Amino acid sequence: MKTLLLITLALGLSANAARLQAANAPSQSMVERATLAKSEAEKRILAVLDDMDKNQRAGSMSVPVLDGRLLRLLTESTGAKTVVEIGTSIGYSGIWFCLALEKTGGHLTTFDIDEGRAAKARVNFKRAGVEHRVTLIMGDAHKEVTKLKGPIDILFFDADKEGYLDYLTKLLPLVRPGGLIIAHNMNTRQADPRFVEAITTNPDLETLFLNKELGGVGVSLKKR
Ligand SMILES: C[S@@+](CC[C@H](N)C(=O)[O-])C[C@H]1O[C@@H](n2cnc3c(N)ncnc32)[C@H](O)[C@@H]1O
Repeated sequence: MKTLLLITLALGLSANAARLQAANAPSQSMVERATLAKSEAEKRILAVLDDMDKNQRAGSMSVPVLDGRLLRLLTESTGAKTVVEIGTSIGYSGIWFCLALEKTGGHLTTFDIDEGRAAKARVNFKRAGVEHRVTLIMGDAHKEVTKLKGPIDILFFDADKEGYLDYLTKLLPLVRPGGLIIAHNMNTRQADPRFVEAITTNPDLETLFLNKELGGVGVSLKKR
C-alpha cells in the first residue's frame, strides 16, 4: 500500500515537472523571431530586405530569409572584408552580406549573367544605401571569375549548380586560409554530386551542411 502511494506520488511529480517544462519551453514564434535593428542604418537595410522578401521574391530565386541571416552572421562574425558571390539575381543575398560588410568595412563582388535581374539588383542596392559596398560584374561567371585576384574571405556559390565544381577549382586557390566557401541548394535533389564529393573529401576543407530543412547550405572552412 505504502509502495503504491509512493509510486503514485512520483508519477504525479514527474507529470507536473513535464507540464512545467512544456509551459516554459520556447514557442515556435520565439525561435523564429525576425532580426531586430540595432541602429537606424540597420533598420533601413532590413526594411528593404523585408520589402524584397514580400514583394520581389517571385522569379528571383533568392535565398530564404534564414539563409540570408546565416550569410550575414558568418560574414560579420568572421570579420570578412572580401566577399565574392556567384549569382546576384536581384541582390537579396547580396544585401544580407552588405549588412555585415557595413560593420567590417568590406566589399562584395557579385556576378550575374542576366541583365534584367542585375538591373533590379542595382536599384535594390541603392535603396538599401549599400551600393558603395558592391561591384556587380555582368557576364558568364565561369569566364569572369578568372580575372579575380585574392585573397577572398568568403566565397558564395548560388548560380548554375552544375558549375559549382568549376567555380571551386578556379577560386579555391584565392580563398585565404581560414576563409569560407558557402554553397547554396546543397540538397540531394539539386546539388551536383561531383561538387559535394570535392568539398567533403578535400583534407584542406572542413564542411558542414546547415539549414537542411530549407534546401541546404554547405559551409566549408579552408583550414589554416
Ligand atoms: C539562385 S539565383 C541567385 C539568388 C541570389 N543569390 C539571392 O539569393 O538573392 C541564381 C542567379 O545566377 C545567375 N547565373 C546562372 N548562371 C550563371 C553564370 N554562368 N554566370 C553568372 N551568373 C549566372 C542567374 O542569372 C541567377 O540570377
